[in-house]
Amino acid sequence: METVLSGIRSTGNLHLGNYFGALKNFIKMQDENKCFFFIADYHSLTTHPDPKMLHPNVKNVLTEYLAAGIDPEKATLYVQSDVPEVCELYLLLNMHAYLGELSKTASFKDKARKSPDNVNAGLLTYPTLMAADILIHNADKVPVGKDQEQHLEMTRKFARRFNNLYGTEFFKEPVAYNYGQELIKIPGLDGSGKMGKSEGNCIYLIDDDKTIEKKVKRALTDEGPKEFNSPKPDYIENLFTFLKVLSTPDVLAYYEDKWNKCEIRYGDLKKQLAEDIIKVVKPIRERINAIQNDEAYLHKVTTEGAAKAREHASKTLKEVRQIMGFKSF
Ligand code: TYM
Repeated sequence: METVLSGIRSTGNLHLGNYFGALKNFIKMQDENKCFFFIADYHSLTTHPDPKMLHPNVKNVLTEYLAAGIDPEKATLYVQSDVPEVCELYLLLNMHAYLGELSKTASFKDKARKSPDNVNAGLLTYPTLMAADILIHNADKVPVGKDQEQHLEMTRKFARRFNNLYGTEFFKEPVAYNYGQELIKIPGLDGSGKMGKSEGNCIYLIDDDKTIEKKVKRALTDEGPKEFNSPKPDYIENLFTFLKVLSTPDVLAYYEDKWNKCEIRYGDLKKQLAEDIIKVVKPIRERINAIQNDEAYLHKVTTEGAAKAREHASKTLKEVRQIMGFKSF
C-alpha cells in the first residue's frame, strides 16, 4: 500500500484549478492507499492574513474537500497547524536547506518580485515547510498541479541530502503524481497563464450557475481564425484545455473540427463549456451548502484527523530525532 499526500493552502475557496490539479482524480485513491489530505494553514501566513479570516478560510477548504468527495473514514483529513510535529521537522530540515537554493525557487522569486516589502523568512523557507508536510508521512506520491513540480524536486533533494548526511535510507523520495501523465495546469479564462486565487481569474466550486455562465461568457476570444487549420493563440488554446478536461471527447472533436474549418462560434462553445462546468460544480456546491454549518461534524472530522495524523507523524519524528543523535536523559 502506498502513502499518498495532498495539501491545499487555506487562502480562500477552492477553484477548478485546485479541483482538477489536485483533487478530482485522486479522490478514488483513498480506496486503495493510505491517503493524507490536509489544509495548509501555516503556508497561508506568508501573506499575513487578517486573523479574523484565518479560521473561516480553513473551514472553507475543509468543507470543500469533504464536498468534493474526501471520505474521512477512508483518508486522514487534517489541518496542518493541528500537527505540531510538522513544525519540528521543518526546523530540522531547515538546518540543511541553503539560502542559494531557496532563493532560486521560482515561486519565491515570483512572490518577492510581486511583494518586495514582504520578503519574509517564511516565504523563503516555504519549500522546506512543504517538504516537512510530505516527509513527516514519508509519502510516495503527491498529487499536485504543474505549478508545484519544483517544490517536489526540492523535497526529493532535502530527503536525499538527509539520507546521505546521516547514512540512512530513511526518507523516501516522493514524486509529483498524475497517474503517469503530465501534471495539469488549468488556465485562467482571462487568457492568462493559470487559474489562481491571486490572479483573480477563478471559477470557484462555490460559484452559482449564473456566476459561472457570466465568467465563461467574459472569457477572452477574437474574431476567429481566417485560415484553415490555423494554430490557436494561447487564450483560445485555454478554452480548448477546458474542453479537454471537462467535456466529452466528441464535444472536443466537434469544436476542434469547427476551429480547423474556420466555422467556430465562440458563443456556442462558451455555452457548452458553462454547462459542462456547472455539471461538475453544482453537486459539489450543494454538498458544501449542506455541511458548512454542521459544526459538530467538522469538529469530529478535524479532531479525528489530527489524532490519526499526529500518531503517524510522531513515529516519523521520533526516528528522525534518533537518526540525528537526540537522546533523552
Ligand atoms: P495551492 O493551495 O496553491 O494549490 C493546491 C493544489 O492545487 C493545484 N493547483 C492547480 N493545478 C492545476 N491548475 C491550476 N491552475 C492550479 N492551481 C492550483 C496546486 O498545484 C496544488 O496541488 N504549496 C501548496 C500547498 C501545500 C502542499 C504541501 C501540497 C503545502 N504543503 C504538501 C502538496 C504537498 C500550494 O500552495 O498549493
